[in-house]
Amino acid sequence: MSIDSRSTPQPATSVMDQPQATRPGATNTVRVGVIGYGYWGPNIVRNLHAIANCEVISVCDKNPAALKRAQRAYPGVHLTSDFAEVLRSPDIDAVAIVTPVWTHFELAKAALENGKHVFVEKPFTSTSHQAEELIELAERKNLRIMVDHTFLFSGAVRKIRDLVENGTMGPLYYYDSTRVNLGLFQHDVSVLWDLAPHDLSIMDYLIAEKPEAVVATGSNHLNHLADMAFITVYFRSNIIAHFNVNWLSPVKVRNTLIGGKDKMLVWNDLDPDEKIKVYDKGVAITKAEGVYDLLVSYRSGDVWGPKVDSTEALKVELEYFVECILESKTPSNDGAAGLRVVRLLEAAEESLQARGKLVMI
Ligand SMILES: NC(=O)c1ccc[n+]([C@@H]2O[C@H](COP(=O)([O-])OP(=O)(O)OC[C@H]3O[C@@H](n4cnc5c(N)ncnc54)[C@H](O)[C@@H]3O)[C@@H](O)[C@H]2O)c1
Repeated sequence: MSIDSRSTPQPATSVMDQPQATRPGATNTVRVGVIGYGYWGPNIVRNLHAIANCEVISVCDKNPAALKRAQRAYPGVHLTSDFAEVLRSPDIDAVAIVTPVWTHFELAKAALENGKHVFVEKPFTSTSHQAEELIELAERKNLRIMVDHTFLFSGAVRKIRDLVENGTMGPLYYYDSTRVNLGLFQHDVSVLWDLAPHDLSIMDYLIAEKPEAVVATGSNHLNHLADMAFITVYFRSNIIAHFNVNWLSPVKVRNTLIGGKDKMLVWNDLDPDEKIKVYDKGVAITKAEGVYDLLVSYRSGDVWGPKVDSTEALKVELEYFVECILESKTPSNDGAAGLRVVRLLEAAEESLQARGKLVMI
């Protein structure tokens, strides 16, 4: 499937099928309830709160300390520890689910059953069956699902996608990323399910071709969950992708190398000024008739630092979520995109458990 066809808007539906926020005569505001105000939830609430045609109606967290923090920051917002209150409220059009991974399915399912659009954290679900069920339910109810693949909305990834799509890079050879730091250890998921969704969603966004197979290795040192993993994704063409994710690194590294036939680039997400450097470097091999040795020529041209939009990715993403609801558009990071990532995670998990077995997708 091409990247563009993934973002094809859904066909128009009858007025009665349309959720409240998109019915004619409804206000042009999306009213949101946010479930989960731990580490990431405050970023979601802050960005939703700043969007003109969006209103944060309630924040829900079962932890009273989290609700206290929310109350200090947003005195007018309704607070509750009962997620059912948010899911059943007739004053809420959409629910943002910012809770641990194992809770995503139950909460998203209940939200959709109650007629709410869903913004759900990465990874979408714990299994591909769960993701398929949610996608089917949302389609039946004509509701949107957006999976928080935040990096797709960063200036750097949008710039890289331009460079790939407009042919600057030439045909891609490889995608190679390192995402390592000390912690944050999660209670319910391994480093594979916590950090790799970022890289897999970026790979999925940049490389239109469907992956063929996965090999993963990894290890756990502190509990039963892997704290470091090395994942290789094979494609039918000669593109190869590799990810190094690690919670036991003394330093934080966010480096990605992308090699194309015509250009190569380095993306250092921690560099405040020059996140992307594009290198006019390459290798060509010719084998003239009768010449035994290969003739290898190396091209080493200019280095270029393209301008990268510094707008907060989550701001761009949540504005797009509101737009998709109001205009009945299917987001590019919809349930299907979330499912593609979950399938890769499942394959990588199976491979990792079998110490690097090749798992076909
Ligand atoms: N997109 C990103 O860059 C990004 C970054 C960090 C975390 N995340 C994702 O966000 C999600 C949450 O991660 P976190 O680090 O904020 O976790 P966290 O543990 O810090 O916060 C989760 C909060 O949810 C609350 N909660 C759990 N179950 C609940 C329930 N049934 N009802 C009400 N409240 C409930 C907890 O009390 C807690 O305050 C995860 O899926 C994670 O993968 C995404």
